Amino acid sequence: MSQRRDFAGFHTRTPNEARVVDYLLGGKDNFAADREAAERAIALAPGLPMMALESRRFLGRVVRFLVEAGIRQFIDLGCGLPTQNNAHEVAQAATPEARVVYVDFDPVVVTHARALLADNVRTSVVQADVRDPDLILGHPDLVRLIDLKRPVAILLISTLQAVPEDEVVLDIVTRLREAICPGSWMVISHPTSDDRPEVTGRLAAMFQDEEIVKGTRRRDNLRTRAEIEPYFDGLELADPGIVRIPAWRPDGAGPGVDPESVWAIAGAGRKPA
Ligand SMILES: C[S@@+](CC[C@H](N)C(=O)[O-])C[C@H]1O[C@@H](n2cnc3c(N)ncnc32)[C@H](O)[C@@H]1O
Repeated sequence: MSQRRDFAGFHTRTPNEARVVDYLLGGKDNFAADREAAERAIALAPGLPMMALESRRFLGRVVRFLVEAGIRQFIDLGCGLPTQNNAHEVAQAATPEARVVYVDFDPVVVTHARALLADNVRTSVVQADVRDPDLILGHPDLVRLIDLKRPVAILLISTLQAVPEDEVVLDIVTRLREAICPGSWMVISHPTSDDRPEVTGRLAAMFQDEEIVKGTRRRDNLRTRAEIEPYFDGLELADPGIVRIPAWRPDGAGPGVDPESVWAIAGAGRKPA
C-alpha cells in the first residue's frame, strides 16, 4: 500500500480542501485563495454549498442513529475543519460519555480542532494519513480513548474521494473492517460521477490544477456508485442501504432537499458477529 506522511504545510496562498469546504459551509476559517477556488467550483457546480451542508446534516443523523444503536466510540477520519454539529457535539449531546477521535492529515484542521477541543477530555485529534489505518488505530491519542475490543463507529464522510487510487481505498476500508470488532459500524459517504460525469470531471481537474489537495494525484473523475458499493462488503447495511445522502434516514417530514439534486451517496454498515 502506498503511504504518504509528508503532510501538507500551512500555505495561505494555495487553496486548501478543508478551508474550501469551510467556505462552502459559510465558515470564516478560510483565506482569499480558498474563497476564489470555492467560487470557481461553485460556478461549475452551483449545488456545491447545498451538498456540503447536506453532508454535515447526514453526519448529525448518522451519529444520532449510532448512539441510539448503543455506540459510544467514534473515529472520524478526514474530519475537516471544526464547524457546526461536529461528531462529538452530536454524540455527547445524546450521551455525555461518548468518545470521539478526530483524524485529518491537514495541519490547519489539526491545529483548529485541538484548540476547540482542549477542554473536552473525551475527544482527541490525531494528525495522520487515512492511507495508514494501522498507524491511526495504534496511535497513543486514539488508544487512550478508544477500546477496539468494544464496538466503535468509523466515519469516512466525504473523505475517500481524496484518495485517488482505487486499490488503496479498498485496502483502507478492508483493513479498518478487519480491525474493528463485531457490532462495530462503518459509515461511508462519497460523491458520485454517475449523474454528471462532465461536471465532476471538470471539478476534479480544477482541483488538481488548483492544488487544492496538495501533493495528491487526482483522477480525472470521481467514483461511480458501482465502484463505491464494494466498500461496504462484509457489513450489514442499516436501512435504507446505500442511498443519496438526503435520503438516508431523513428527520421528520423527509429530506429537506430533493435527493436527486445531490450527487453523493452514503450508507452505514454493521460488522456481523
Ligand atoms: C471534503 S472534506 C470532508 C470533511 C468532513 N468529513 C465533512 O464531511 O464535512 C475532506 C477532508 O479529508 C481530509 N483528507 C483528505 N485526504 C486525506 C488523507 N489522505 N488523510 C487524512 N485526511 C485526509 C482533508 O484534509 C479534509 O479535511
